[in-house]
Amino acid sequence: MENKLIDSHAHLDDDRFDDDRIEIINKLKDEGIELVLNPGADLATSKKAVQLADEYDFIYAAVGCHPHDSKYMDDNTMDVFRELSKNEKVIAIGEIGLDYYYDNSDRETQKIWFREQIRLANELDLPYIVHDRDAHEDLFRIMKEEAKSNTRGILHCYSGSVEMAREFIKLGFYISLAGPVTFKKAKTPKMVAQEVPLDKLLIETDSPYLTPEPNRGKRNEPKYVRYVAEEIARIRNVSADVIAGSTNKNFKSLFRLKE
Ligand code: NI
Repeated sequence: MENKLIDSHAHLDDDRFDDDRIEIINKLKDEGIELVLNPGADLATSKKAVQLADEYDFIYAAVGCHPHDSKYMDDNTMDVFRELSKNEKVIAIGEIGLDYYYDNSDRETQKIWFREQIRLANELDLPYIVHDRDAHEDLFRIMKEEAKSNTRGILHCYSGSVEMAREFIKLGFYISLAGPVTFKKAKTPKMVAQEVPLDKLLIETDSPYLTPEPNRGKRNEPKYVRYVAEEIARIRNVSADVIAGSTNKNFKSLFRLKE
């Protein structure tokens, strides 16, 4: 592949990388990975993400609280996120959203902090990264209600329909596909991979989770993002290099990074 790959979503701060994090990070460039965006999921992991971004020029961070942990959110945490965002390697708020599959925090609490964090992204003029599990309707309504002219971001590990994807794109969002697009039975992600305009598509691993085929079941790593690119390429009948090139360009345009 001529073009370098960008993993738009990986949790390199995760405990499952504690034994070999440095080796994995140091090998990324040789494996054709140009950049990794590491989002936080709560206060502690947001701080770790910023630390990693400070240490490595090719790692960027997002700060925010995942819906699982929104029950632990308060105004003080929001202030810390605001403070952390002053670091120039913090390029987004996330991951934030709604998760009605696990319901680890009650739905009203999830909605309150999703909305508050969207407002923070708008205030700071930053994109935000959305986690949506079985909550399409409420999630889209809140995003629409809070939309401003500068609103933009990523639907991470997108699992919705092609029609919904079009609505999110109208709101200023990119659609990011992860490992599930490689799973044989995953009809919807494959349809999304086919139908979403190439200039609105991103790729990610969500490491250490959601490992793509042929390594499904093992721990995921950013280098496996190439299997996601290869599967999208196969579905669209183009070369993987085309997918690497377009997703790389899309990422940089969303985050206003230099080519
Ligand atoms: Ni994630």
